[in-house]
Amino acid sequence: NNNEDSHTPNLIEHKHQTKRTEDFFHTLEGYDELNEQMRMIDLSESDLNLLRRVKPSVEKNIDYIIDQFYNSVLGVDKLEAIILEHSSIERLKTTLREHIIEIFDGKVDEEYIAKRMKIANIHKRVGLEPKWYLSAFQNLQNVFIQVIYNETHDDNTRLHVVKTVTKLLNLEQQLVLE
Ligand code: HEM
Repeated sequence: NNNEDSHTPNLIEHKHQTKRTEDFFHTLEGYDELNEQMRMIDLSESDLNLLRRVKPSVEKNIDYIIDQFYNSVLGVDKLEAIILEHSSIERLKTTLREHIIEIFDGKVDEEYIAKRMKIANIHKRVGLEPKWYLSAFQNLQNVFIQVIYNETHDDNTRLHVVKTVTKLLNLEQQLVLE
């Protein structure tokens, strides 16, 4: 073992900087096109493993992440109106919080895909246009990158974690905007 014990528990540690030979692209049986999409963004099993290791840091910062998200969304009158008409800020905060933490389970399976299809339909139903979804998403990504920066201590780890997390956020957008 290495000197892991000398670090604070929530620190994101990343030991494999390079792709190992036994690393595989993540694939799902029966999802040919999606498999190609995941291959195109280079989403591998080691990315999913890394996500699970990053999860405690995300949980630690989740209030900050959610608050930033809602401050930006509520700054747009049109979006605030959609939320107040169809839901409530408290309810959406809880849903989004669980949703984001779940991404870090690193379990991209049929259920994961189905859930994103459902979100796409809900957003369609409430009249959320793709441009606003994407704007909100970029805000979320900005906050994520800041949190990763704060939680890591060397360039290689930062680069690797940012790459992995942005792959998952991109996959999310691919699925929800389809
Ligand atoms: C519902 C995620 C952007 C408004 C949801 C749900 C999730 C979600 C996980 C719950 C789906 C379910 O019940 O299974 C996201 C993500 C976003 C995003 C990840 C972008 C990063 C937005 C924005 C608005 C919005 C910008 C602003 C209007 C809503 C509304 C619902 C909803 C009104 C319905 C909630 C309900 O039924 O109570 N979204 N959302 N979303 N979202 Fe979003």
